[in-house]
Amino acid sequence: MADLNHRITLARRPVGPVGPECFATDDVPIPSPGPGEVLVAVRWLSIDPTIRGWMAMDTYLPAIPIGDPVRSVGLGEVIESNVDAIPVGATVFGLTGWQQYAVLDATATVLPDGIDPTAALSVFGVTGLTAYFGLLDLGRPQPGETVVVSGAAGATGSVVGQIARIKGCRVIGIAGTAEKCAWLVDELGFDAAINYRTDDVSARLGELCPHGLDVFFDNVGGDILEAALDHLAMRARVVLCGAISRYNDEAPRPGPRNLMNLVVQRGRMEGFIVMDYMGRADEAMADLVTWVLDGSVKFAVDVVEGLDNAPVALDRLFSGANRGKVMVRL
Ligand SMILES: NC(=O)c1ccc[n+]([C@@H]2O[C@H](COP(=O)([O-])OP(=O)(O)OC[C@H]3O[C@@H](n4cnc5c(N)ncnc54)[C@H](OP(=O)(O)O)[C@@H]3O)[C@@H](O)[C@H]2O)c1
Repeated sequence: MADLNHRITLARRPVGPVGPECFATDDVPIPSPGPGEVLVAVRWLSIDPTIRGWMAMDTYLPAIPIGDPVRSVGLGEVIESNVDAIPVGATVFGLTGWQQYAVLDATATVLPDGIDPTAALSVFGVTGLTAYFGLLDLGRPQPGETVVVSGAAGATGSVVGQIARIKGCRVIGIAGTAEKCAWLVDELGFDAAINYRTDDVSARLGELCPHGLDVFFDNVGGDILEAALDHLAMRARVVLCGAISRYNDEAPRPGPRNLMNLVVQRGRMEGFIVMDYMGRADEAMADLVTWVLDGSVKFAVDVVEGLDNAPVALDRLFSGANRGKVMVRL
């Protein structure tokens, strides 16, 4: 065990894209777990777009205080335990933050033996639950319907599209490179893909969805959301999962100009936060484990090495350098 706890802390709140000036590093004494707590050696960090929001402002969680380690979900090995149910040596999942050692309380989730950490942080973690409940609870796809997913080659979007295929839907993905689009169709079984950087998204949706889209699962927001709203089928469901194209905006921009289409098409648009579904995780996990084992859901991971590269890993989400779930191995 090292003598000190190396941390990446929040130095400044981002205005616009997150730059290196937002981060600092320090080395502080390793914390001691109190009663009802465990000390964890952090092994993996989940890198999520929401971290940028936590750095900037109060959202569904309070903003990260300046000087604190950057907040993040992680996986670690328990090296000291004051919790009977969590033995030393267990692998646990919790809000570890960007640091080598973290104190977690008894609510930390113990990972069952034999689960690969990359799967635990992606398809069997927050990503899988987001895709599962967002699509099935809010999108309610029916066999034969057309489902369109933005951010389709990312961690969440790629799982959403595959679940929609399992449910008997026709699936169209929207992604940022020709390689990502080819991967969606050739490897993941999407019916078609649109490259938003080279194609006119609204025109392509018109060609690919002559009867309109029944479900739009949106990870991106902005112009892509507006393009999807142009093509709603009657009683379409628009699932607002995220709006990554807007997270770096310095001021809010006007919303879609065509919200009236929801009225005309009797559509429904609804947002959600996956934390609200944690109590139902077992329900999702039963299906996700089955689908991963039978090969009907594949997952991709994008592993960045080393705690000090966590800011670089975060940037991959915004540049689109990633395909699948971004994570850091310490
Ligand atoms: N509601 C919830 O509870 C919840 C939970 C988890 C995640 N989310 C949201 O889900 C979305 C996906 O998260 P994730 O963790 O799975 O990340 P991800 O999709 O693996 O990575 C983000 C992707 O967004 C795309 N992107 C970045 N900037 C863009 C832009 N300006 N326009 C269009 N696409 C852009 C990039 O792909 P391209 O190469 O295709 O551009 C990038 O690969 C995010 O909006 C996130 O906030 C919501």
